[in-house]
Amino acid sequence: MIKKQLAKYGILFLSVLIGLASCKSKEEIGLKDAFKDTFLIGVAMNSDQIQQKNKDVNDLILKHYNSIVAENCMKSGIIQPVEGEFDFSLSDQLVCFGEKHKMFIVGHTLIWHSQVPKWFFVDEQGKDVSPEVLKQRMKTHIHTIVNRYKGRVNGWDVVNEAIEDDGSWRNSKFYQILGEDFVKLAFQYAHEADPEAELYYNDYNMAKEGKRDAVVRMVTKLKEQGITVNGIGMQGHLMMDFPEVEDFEKSIIAFGSTGAKVMITELDLSALPNPFSTEGAEISLRADYEEKMNPYPNGLSKEQTEAQYKKFVDFFNVFIRQKDIVSRVTLWGVSDKDSWKNDWPIKGRTDYPLLFDRDYKPKPVVETIMKMTPNP
Ligand code: G3I
Repeated sequence: MIKKQLAKYGILFLSVLIGLASCKSKEEIGLKDAFKDTFLIGVAMNSDQIQQKNKDVNDLILKHYNSIVAENCMKSGIIQPVEGEFDFSLSDQLVCFGEKHKMFIVGHTLIWHSQVPKWFFVDEQGKDVSPEVLKQRMKTHIHTIVNRYKGRVNGWDVVNEAIEDDGSWRNSKFYQILGEDFVKLAFQYAHEADPEAELYYNDYNMAKEGKRDAVVRMVTKLKEQGITVNGIGMQGHLMMDFPEVEDFEKSIIAFGSTGAKVMITELDLSALPNPFSTEGAEISLRADYEEKMNPYPNGLSKEQTEAQYKKFVDFFNVFIRQKDIVSRVTLWGVSDKDSWKNDWPIKGRTDYPLLFDRDYKPKPVVETIMKMTPNP
C-alpha cells in the first residue's frame, strides 16, 4: 500500500517538475509557443543574422521562431556561382544554427529562373546548351546541395516561381530548353538526394485564380507521375489592397485538396503604395523613386498602422482556421529594417512589412495573434 502511494506521489512530483520546467514566464513566451499546436512559425535569416553578428537579434529569432530559411545564401547564383565551385560558407552556418537549436530548416531554393548564374544555360560558344546538358547541370546542382544537407535540412523549395499569374508557364531558360519537364526532374533529383526531406513548389500571387488552378493541375499531375511533392508554398508577399483574404483562403483549400501541405513561406505586408498595376513579387520589376511613393519615411500614420494591424489579424485568422492544411507560416525577415521591401520595387523607400519594428520590438499585432490560438 505504502509503495503504491509513494509511486503515485513520485509521479505527481515528477509531473510538477516537468510542468515547471516547460512553463515559461510571460516575457519568455514567444510566437512559437503560442502556435506550438497550430503550425511552425519561421523566419528568413539574412547573412548578418546567419553569421550571428547581433546577439539580441539572434535571441529574438530563438525566442519567437522554430523554423528558419536562408533569405539568399542558398540561391544558385550564390551557392554555385561558377560551375563546379560551391560556396557553402553561409549555408553551413545556417544549418548548424538550426540544428543546434532543433529548428525546422528550409532550403531556399534549388531551381529558380532568377539569381541563377548564366553558365547554367550556355556552352563555351555562349549558345543554349542541349536538354541533356541542362539536365546534368540541374542534377549535379541539386544532388550536391541536397546530399550535403541530407537528414539535416527538413524541407526544400525545389522549384520557385515557374508559373505566371494567368496560369501559363513562365518562359524561363529552364522551360525553353526542357519544357515543363524541368519541374518533374528537379523534384526527382531532390528526392533521389534525400528521400526523407519534404519537397515544395513555391510561388507568389498564389491567390490569383489562374495561377491557383495551374499549380493545382501541375502538382496533381506530378503526384500522378509518382513524383514526391510534399507541399505547396504560398509566398504571401501581401499589400494593403491585394490579395483579398477570401481569395487567399480559397487557394489554401485548393492546394490542400491535392494532398500536399500548404505553407506560407515569405509573409510580409507592405504598407506602401504599389507603383504597378500588377501585384506580387516579380523581382525583375523596378520603378523609379518618387516622394509620393514613399509617404511614411518617419513612421506609419495612425490610420495605416491600424489598417495594417487589421490585415495581419485577418490573414492570421485564415491561417489558424486552415491549420489542418497550413503546416508553417514563415516571415520574410526579422524586422522592418531588414526587409527587401525597403528597396523593391523602388530603391530607398521606408516600408513596415514585418512583425517587428526597426528597433526589433514586437508590434502590437504580435500580442494579438499570439492570443488567437488555444495555447498560452
Ligand atoms: O550581398 C550583396 C552585397 O554584397 C552587394 O553590395 C549588394 C549590391 O546591391 O547586393 C547584395 O546582394 C543582394 C541580396 O539581396 C542581399 O541583400 C542582391 O543584390 C539582391 O538582389 C538580393 O535581393 C533578394 C531577392 O530575393 C533576389 O534574390 C532579397 O534580399 C530577397 O528578399 C528576395 O527574396 C525573394 C525570394 O528569394 C523568392 N520570392 C520572392 C522574394 C522577393 O523577391
